[in-house]
Amino acid sequence: MNKCIKNQQKKLFLYHKNIINTFSMKKHFLLSALALTTYMGINAQQVNNMVVQANKIGAEIQPTMYGHFFEDINYGADGGLYAELIKNRSFEFPQNFMGWNVFGNVTLLDDGPFDKNPHYVRLGNPGHAHKRTGIENEGFFGIGIKAGESYRFSVWARGENQKIIVELIDNASMGETQVITSQTLDINSKEWKKYEIKLTPEQTFAKAHLRIFLASAGTVDLEHISLFPTDTWKGRENGLRKDLVQALADTKPGVFRFPGGCIVEGTDLATRYNWKNSVGPVENRPLNENRWHYTFPHRFFPDYFQTYGMGFYELFLLAEDMGAEPLPVLSCGLSCQFQNNTEDAHVKVCDLQPYIQDALDLIEFANGATDTKWGGLRAEMGHPEPFNLKFIGIGNEQWGPEYPERLKPFVEAIRKAYPDMKIIGSSGPNSEGKDFEYLWPEMKKLKVDLVDEHFYRPEDWFLNSGSRYDNYDRKGPKVFAGEYACHGKGKKWNHFHASLLEAAFLTGVERNADIVHMATYAPLLAHVEGWQWRPDLIWFDNLRSVRTCSWYVQNLYGHNKGTNVIPLTMDKKAVSGQEGQNGLFASAVLDKDNNTYILKVVNTSDKSQKLNIEFKGLKKSVSLVNGKCITLHSDNSDAENTLDEPNKIVPVEKDINIEKNILDTEIGEMTFAIYKFEISKK
Ligand code: AHR
Repeated sequence: MNKCIKNQQKKLFLYHKNIINTFSMKKHFLLSALALTTYMGINAQQVNNMVVQANKIGAEIQPTMYGHFFEDINYGADGGLYAELIKNRSFEFPQNFMGWNVFGNVTLLDDGPFDKNPHYVRLGNPGHAHKRTGIENEGFFGIGIKAGESYRFSVWARGENQKIIVELIDNASMGETQVITSQTLDINSKEWKKYEIKLTPEQTFAKAHLRIFLASAGTVDLEHISLFPTDTWKGRENGLRKDLVQALADTKPGVFRFPGGCIVEGTDLATRYNWKNSVGPVENRPLNENRWHYTFPHRFFPDYFQTYGMGFYELFLLAEDMGAEPLPVLSCGLSCQFQNNTEDAHVKVCDLQPYIQDALDLIEFANGATDTKWGGLRAEMGHPEPFNLKFIGIGNEQWGPEYPERLKPFVEAIRKAYPDMKIIGSSGPNSEGKDFEYLWPEMKKLKVDLVDEHFYRPEDWFLNSGSRYDNYDRKGPKVFAGEYACHGKGKKWNHFHASLLEAAFLTGVERNADIVHMATYAPLLAHVEGWQWRPDLIWFDNLRSVRTCSWYVQNLYGHNKGTNVIPLTMDKKAVSGQEGQNGLFASAVLDKDNNTYILKVVNTSDKSQKLNIEFKGLKKSVSLVNGKCITLHSDNSDAENTLDEPNKIVPVEKDINIEKNILDTEIGEMTFAIYKFEISKK
């Protein structure tokens, strides 16, 4: 299989190298348009004749085909999707006051009401009527607030006949006051108790701080200081940021993988993502470090931790809300192999049982009856119905014999207890090469159901990989293209050209829907002030978010998935950017539910291309009507959508004609086009 891929790739490499070189030459005005045409062997007048075998209804396209991969990277969870606005709300960061400014008589204590988060603060008498004791939180790159919206402030507190003032402030204001909104909260309980007030600012501000100070003589103890917009996704307390969930849900994802990525593995085993710490009362979920705070020292974020506030319960719920299959991935007992090269960093195979038990318990948490231990916890948290978990991943980017030998006992135990559960193994961090070649046969031997492949690759890889899956072994596990994104050479931002090549690559995924069952772009989310890795699917700041061109590609595929693959060829060959195909990629599906044929054509060349696409095999009584063409294009291939210009590159839809079931049209240079036709029977 892999030899085949390599040969195809070699053949295509030179051709596509020419295309890429040509783009840059064009940019530098080195060749005239005429010379370019000759050089590339592309004749703009040539008609690209394609055939759709409309009556050959092929493989089913899995409902899980297009989805999302979520990881807490780039402040994707804390400071992002998780709508909590207070950083270090429980004073559990290793530097307990990180994110806080304290003034006056403030003491840190550690015998609080939540055993896994024992720290809290005591605000004491400052010693003089004109002095103050208080604390001030900076949020995540500030606290984003919107005029007229309400924010739920909550705190666990104890104190007798005490008052605190709770304010949102603009520290750097040139106005008369720094205070944006302020309220007094009476604390009158000897024992710890949860207090709540709503703050409604009249000003929109991305960089507010929360200030709390004592307004009475005496002492007050404060723990788990929290601030959420009340307008979260579905209005939930401990909820998620609405605009970001909307952007995820809008693509109609079929699968939702979580919680990563590398954070599943941990820099060491102690810091792997531990799902059991992420469920139960939110106040008592212990803090974990986030490896992305230090992984890239040139993008260093020492205040990046995982509170697990958005834990497995919330992630299952999110998958359910979006109608996506949940796909949790768990540690296989190997800590991150990029960061560890000694045996003792990992769990010995003979000591794996607790890790295997974690996987079995997770399945019980998701699907178990409410009278089981973990199913009971799910019910207690508010979801007595099962989450219907069908897929589970074991291990992220693992490699070497140490992986299959650990995966094996997981597979055996899961198969025994849950024979219908689909298990996902890994093919390592690379899309080809030694580890990949070693792991695929190992995954086959272990009979995993799907193999997770990752590819963050440059332009030429995407251009050369249109046929990647055409020759995969149909008898082995299916493919989960679990993390992919086109990383332009020297162009790490989400520019149009990268998304165009992703669209081109996805035609090959779609054509091979019998073997590829899932594909998820990665990473998903990034804060513009807090990213470690790019490109990313959705960018945001404290108030706004933007859907990238890559998001639009996902969205177009998600909404035009169809139900079955239909053969589409040019000169009897798949249209996968092969030599002589003028930089074209194409695929076709039938949408049985809507009686529609949907074609996807991607023109990666810098010339518009004439297309003549004939639908063969249709009964005489059938005609194609109500043609629509949706295109995604930018005249500037380096252009991107930004927070300030979020709609710079968006799909455009128009009606098109089709006569005698032949589509005679032209696709513009560097364009992703979707053509849709309804089936009409006389
Ligand atoms: O998506 C970012 C990282 O890329 C993931 O954590 C990891 O799986 C891959 O290396």
